[in-house]
This record gives sequence, C-alpha cells and structure tokens, in this order.
Amino acid sequence: MDVRISPSSALTGAVRLPGDKSISHRYGMLSAIAEGVTKLHNYSTGADCHSTLACMSSLGIVIEKDGTEITVHGKGLHGLKEYAGTLDAGNSGSTIRMLSGILAGQHFTSRIEGDESLARRPMARIMKPLAEMGAVIEARDGSYTPLVIKGGKLKGITYTPPVASAQVKSCVLFAGIYADGVTTVNEPIKTRDHSEIALESFGAEIQVMGKQVSITGGRPLIGCELSVPGDLSSAAFFLVAATMAKKARVLISGVGLNPSRSALLDFLASNGAKIKIQDIRSGSGEISGDLLVENADFQGGVIDRAMAAALIDELPVLAVLGAASANGLTVRDASELRVKETDRIATVAENMRRMGIEISTFEDGFHVPGKQKFKGAEVESFGDHRIAMAFAVAGLAAGGETLVKEAEAASVSFPEFYDMLNNLRS
Ligand code: S3P
Repeated sequence: MDVRISPSSALTGAVRLPGDKSISHRYGMLSAIAEGVTKLHNYSTGADCHSTLACMSSLGIVIEKDGTEITVHGKGLHGLKEYAGTLDAGNSGSTIRMLSGILAGQHFTSRIEGDESLARRPMARIMKPLAEMGAVIEARDGSYTPLVIKGGKLKGITYTPPVASAQVKSCVLFAGIYADGVTTVNEPIKTRDHSEIALESFGAEIQVMGKQVSITGGRPLIGCELSVPGDLSSAAFFLVAATMAKKARVLISGVGLNPSRSALLDFLASNGAKIKIQDIRSGSGEISGDLLVENADFQGGVIDRAMAAALIDELPVLAVLGAASANGLTVRDASELRVKETDRIATVAENMRRMGIEISTFEDGFHVPGKQKFKGAEVESFGDHRIAMAFAVAGLAAGGETLVKEAEAASVSFPEFYDMLNNLRS
C-alpha cells in the first residue's frame, strides 16, 4: 500500500494513542508464565505485540482478545508446552530477544525466527549471556535467525552487556526468573525500565540499584490486571508534526511518561518546542499523562552519548525536524541505528535526499543542516515502520505531494497512524 501525503500547514484536534509497544510485549510474555488470569487493557494494536501473543499461544497459552482488551490464562513458570513448529516473531526484535530468555528456562527445545528484516539483526548479544547461564543456542552464522534454543537448568550470573539495550537486559532478567540464585545485570547506560516495573507488578523478587538490576530465580509470578499507557514513541510523530506546522494545537491523551523514556520531551522542550504535560497519573508503576503540543520554532541541537541511547527509536523523526530547525541536528554515538528494522542511518539519508534535504552520515550518526525545505517526492518505507511514519510527517511540511511506498509498514507499531494524522488536518 502506498500512501499519498499532501502538504498541510495546520494541525488541530485530539488523539488517543494505542498502547505502548515495549510495555505490551512484556505484559504479554510475563502474563503467560504467571499463575492465573491476567487482564490487560489498551494492549498495543501493533503487529509486533500480536507476534508476541501468537508465540505465547503456540506455546500452549489460551489468550482471549476483545479489541485492545486481552485476557491471558497464565499457566505458571513451568506451564508452557513445547511447540513442534517454528515460533514466528514476525518483524519484532523485542519478541525474539526477550522471549529467548524465557525459552532458555524451559525443559524443551524451541525454534524461533521472523521476517527478512529480523534475519539481518544480531542475536549474539542475547546468545552470549544465555549460554553463560547454561542454555544451548544455535544460530545461523553464530548470530542470526533461526535460533534453536535448548532450554534447561539455568544458573544466575552477573552480566554487563557491551551495548546499552533494554532488550538484552530484559532477556537476561527473564531467564533469571528460571535460574538458580540471583541474576544481575549491570547496564553501561540505564535503559528503559519497563521490565523491572512489569516484573514487580507480577510479584517477582527484583531489586534495582541505579544501573544494577537483580532478580531472584524460582519465585512464581502471579496474574494481575494492568493498563498499558499510550506509546510515547508513537506520540513522537505527532509532537514533531505539530512543532513543524505553521499552526498547530494537538492534545495527545494518556501517553506513557516513564522517565526512562521521556528524554524525548526534555530534548524537544529544551530546544524550543511548546509542549505542556498535563494531568499526570500513575498505575501499576507506569506513569502517564496528556501532552498539549503547539507549533514552535525549533532550534535543533546535538544528540550523543546516553541521550542517543534514550532517543534511539525517535531519531528518524527527529532527523526530519532537524532539517526544518534553525540550527540543524547532529546525532552521534547512535551506531545501534544501523541494526534496527533497517539500517536507519542509510534509510533516513536516502529518503531525505529524495526530498531535497542535505544530510551527511557517519558510522554512528548523521548531521542535518537546518533551515531546509522539503520537496514532495516518492520515498520508501523500506519495510520499516518508523521510517514510513517519519517521512509521512516530512510530507506534511513538503512543497508538493509525497508518496510513501509500502506505507503499511507503520502497522508494526501503529496501524491507526495515517487515519489519526488525517483527522488532525484542518
Ligand atoms: C526496546 C528497546 C530498544 C528499542 C526497541 C524496543 C524494548 O531496543 O529500540 O524499539 O522494548 O526494550 P534495544 O534494546 O535493542 O536498544
């Protein structure tokens, strides 16, 4: 499906976003290995999070779906059943990396793979700690799907991941649920802490001290009732679109504001964006609130070090904003962008150039000069949801019509995106 985006100078209205992708994955997995029923409200509508549920169903878990209301009939830590086929993680790195931690603790062998994009993404980062814990994992060329995971008895380890990755941290902690003794992860840079919060909600014995997280193995998880806040990474597309518009006033309600995710709001606000955070509330350890965003003169800036890790999913759409900013945007220390759903340094640069935007790239980032004007063009999603949505946003600010090819990629995290964007046009 190709989507045509005509320029729009004004955006007004209100949106309520689908549930957070990161949180939905964790709730989907942990509820399956918890004892008893878990009710999940506002579960993500994204295909990725439904890949997680499909894997849990293949592993013998009964899951009822009523729109975004999900009921999971958990079977406890040892209730999963061996699946004779290949578990399908689809496009989802979170599914395969985090679920591998759980599969490592099972007394059976699992085979898991996903689509072509997932087949290019490195898995050695989770294989190494899981092997240290006692799992035996085979992968194509030592790091790529399909993975064959021979689970079994695991022992607790202390692990320092070489890259800052919440997926790796979560994988090790989820394996730690099954391990003898205590499993500890020392993070080089603190990453999103949704797993820690979710584990606590399901009653795990978990301790957090700064960048160190420990879990005690062998303790049961207990089913519960949880609401997923709206996805801040999805909100990013509207925050940028509204900031760039000539006139905008958009209310985004019920967005997750977990401090380990909200660097986006700090970066935008401290460089000129007009965003008001209203009506902050908390539930099951996760914070949410409403965001009111208006058009503004964005200054641009530099994103590097810990900031690059904290904003990693938002960098494609921030690149778009950078081109329209007063001083441009420089991103460094973000080589992880090269191993996302696409090589996002290359795919951002390709689409920017098609839209007449100057950009220079580095191995670990890019520089986009400011005060540039987008021209309407044909751009590609490259099958990457965040690339599709970032360039739909660029299309709003362009001088002519933009065609986003294979725009349906957005449905991996945000199937409602184009309709919601359209409804805000005035
Ligand atoms: C995620 C962590 C990040 C992020 C991804 C979701 C998570 O990946 O890019 O979209 O839910 O833990 P890494 O752990 O690879 O940095």
